[in-house]
Amino acid sequence: MDGSQTAPLPIAATGDRPASRRVYVKTWGCQMNVYDSTRMVDVLAPLGYAPTAAPDDADLVILNTCHIREKATDKVFSELGRLRAAKEARATRGGDMLIAVAGCVAQAEGAEILERAPYVDLVFGPQTYHDLPDMVTKALRSRGQAILNTEFPVESKFDFLPEEQAPQGPSAFLSVQEGCDKFCTFCVVPYTRGAEASRPVDQIIAEARRLVAGGAREVTLLGQNVNAYHGEGPQGGPWGLGRLIRALAEIPDLARIRYTTSHPRDMDDDLIAAHGEVPQLMPFLHLPVQSGSDSILRSMNRKHSADDYLRIVDRLRTARPDMALSSDFIVGFPGEREADFAATLRLVNRVGYAQAYSFKYSPRPGTPASAQASQVPEAEKTDRLEALQQLLNAQQLAFNRSCRGRVMPVLFDRAGKRPGQVLGRTPFMQVAHAEGPPRLLGQIVDLAVDEGHANSVAGRIVTGTWDTADGQPTAAQGAV
Ligand code: 5AD
Ligand code: SF4
Repeated sequence: MDGSQTAPLPIAATGDRPASRRVYVKTWGCQMNVYDSTRMVDVLAPLGYAPTAAPDDADLVILNTCHIREKATDKVFSELGRLRAAKEARATRGGDMLIAVAGCVAQAEGAEILERAPYVDLVFGPQTYHDLPDMVTKALRSRGQAILNTEFPVESKFDFLPEEQAPQGPSAFLSVQEGCDKFCTFCVVPYTRGAEASRPVDQIIAEARRLVAGGAREVTLLGQNVNAYHGEGPQGGPWGLGRLIRALAEIPDLARIRYTTSHPRDMDDDLIAAHGEVPQLMPFLHLPVQSGSDSILRSMNRKHSADDYLRIVDRLRTARPDMALSSDFIVGFPGEREADFAATLRLVNRVGYAQAYSFKYSPRPGTPASAQASQVPEAEKTDRLEALQQLLNAQQLAFNRSCRGRVMPVLFDRAGKRPGQVLGRTPFMQVAHAEGPPRLLGQIVDLAVDEGHANSVAGRIVTGTWDTADGQPTAAQGAV
């Protein structure tokens, strides 16, 4: 995912303590960063910080950054330039603003940030934000002396985070695994997020129960390599992701379970079987393949062939015939010839995707592929990306259109742009539009799909499934 998430974070409950200070968090990148941002707010609540949507009013501004895309660092510096002016304006009014850079750019380029932007007060990586209260206190005391914390601590931050302060809403994220040991040759994640680590089962189940008690009907399990999950079970010994999902499915009122992002190598038998056996596990999987060419996959160090991937897809569809798939693709990886790209198009045609993300290869400093000879000319990358996206967009439209005439359970979680419109997600992650009252938000309701568009489906709410006296779903809607 690219782009920034600027939606205000949920307002944290601070108990009886008046919230005397304000924190503004801007988040770039993946869902993991979105989750981390909510937890940063949780960790700061005991210090009296409440979230604000206005950076100029903030006593503390945190930029939670992503390092995957090209120009990620430039975006951070241009944002810092704006914040510098806000900080100076606040100082002339006698106020004070701490500026913090967090996330993967902080991890990778901490020292450079402090050199180029000496007005930054705090720089910390994704593994150390449980120490935020301590870091903020130190920064407030030692004004002018910046704090840099990009360690990979031995302890897990999850053992130190407080319970979540604010409910996330009907669809919640839950981080279960972090880091990556795969070292794909194009990717910065193993360097910025560190080695793979999994949270213990008990901790995850307790957090999921709290999310559900706070109104979540759907939980998406997050990890850079989520299906490499191997957390400690309640009786000791590691559990795989399939077993974790089966245990989460026991939580009453948790109607939907998803997980992202997965690596094909870690799709084990039990996880594939879970797709056929656990009704709460949604029939949609983001399973990046990156390329359809074996020689490019080898050069990317993906540790699987195109055929291995196709076999996994077949097994998933045997377990769950309506399984919809999504993927990430990179075009123009060093050494990619026309024949390699043609193999990617063949794979896409063979799988048939419900949606997908595709990118031009961009060299990331410090990764092996960036030093490889035979970089592909920009114009070729552009042509290939266009051809691939044309095919993927056509597949997405065909999939959305194929849903016309079907009735699907939709979890409505947002008001639409027009009054009287509600938005939600189908089991296949499609955005769904319908006319309906706001009380549907947070409910799973049957939708008769009439229209399939490029990026969404639209339909009518099926009368009777939601129109109960108390506006609550009927028993039949508990699971989908
Ligand atoms: N160039 C282009 N795309 C990349 N991705 C990761 N690193 C790069 C890079 N250097 C893409 C991959 C990954 C997604 C999150 O971002 O497709 O799956
Ligand atoms: Fe990056 Fe994913 Fe490869 Fe890990 S598996 S190195 S996170 S692309």
